[in-house]
Amino acid sequence: MAGLFTKQAAVYAAARPAYPKDLFTKLAAFTAHHRLAWDVGTGNGQAAIGVAEHYDSVLATDVSAEQLLRAVPHPKVQYLHTPDATPGQDLVTTLGGEGSVDLITVAEAVHWFDLPAFYGVARRVLRRPGGVIAVWGYNYRLSPVEDMMARFFNTTLPYRDPPARYCTEGYRDLPFPFDDIGLGREGEPASLDMEHEMSFEGLIGMLRSWSAVTTAKQRGVDLLGERVVKELEEEWALGRGVAGAEGDLQGLPAGRHPQGR
Ligand SMILES: C[S@@+](CC[C@H](N)C(=O)[O-])C[C@H]1O[C@@H](n2cnc3c(N)ncnc32)[C@H](O)[C@@H]1O
Repeated sequence: MAGLFTKQAAVYAAARPAYPKDLFTKLAAFTAHHRLAWDVGTGNGQAAIGVAEHYDSVLATDVSAEQLLRAVPHPKVQYLHTPDATPGQDLVTTLGGEGSVDLITVAEAVHWFDLPAFYGVARRVLRRPGGVIAVWGYNYRLSPVEDMMARFFNTTLPYRDPPARYCTEGYRDLPFPFDDIGLGREGEPASLDMEHEMSFEGLIGMLRSWSAVTTAKQRGVDLLGERVVKELEEEWALGRGVAGAEGDLQGLPAGRHPQGR
């Protein structure tokens, strides 16, 4: 699956939003110490950079070397390629051993992971007590072009990889076996607003970075061919007159190491 983000890494880096600073301030307030954070599935560091404001250092890992090549440099962030088959024990060692991580963040990525394996490593490396794990994804509500977006979204449905459903459904079904800290929990994720101004070119870039659009292309179908882009542009102009859009961030379960597990 790393290939889904490898092929369009350049598009991804240009199109995807960073996260609200408040989110990282909120998460940092939950951890007892602020030495080491682990941002998993970091992509181009969209979350790692925000986390770095609150921790001495951040280890930011990804299975896609191409995504990491386009990562935003930061003095406190160390980017590290962790190929798909990296054994859990190697990850634990790389992260400094059992109980060494104060905060684990996974932004818009956990639905792609082998969850039992990842959660197993997370439990081992989280500091006890006081360590926190937070995972989140986002869906766009593009105002006022919701109809246009809904129609485009429908064209992507046949190419959606099953794990992506966790995200489109706001992580409501995502297994999350960690203790509740009051910021969303398994089955009841929290929802936060995330505003993001977007030009039409930005919108097209974002759509091109969708994994389903990449999957369709791999199967010989261009969901964003010239005609479709022209139609979208006409509707965008009708809807807005000017460039701009809003999005929202949903599905934030955050929790501590489960007691006794
Ligand atoms: C949708 S991107 C999210 C990137 C970034 N965190 C963000 O918020 O935009 C998903 C990322 O997860 C990575 N990924 C997928 N499976 C992974 C795994 N098992 N371990 C680490 N990274 C993984 C992909 O290569 C990709 O960069």
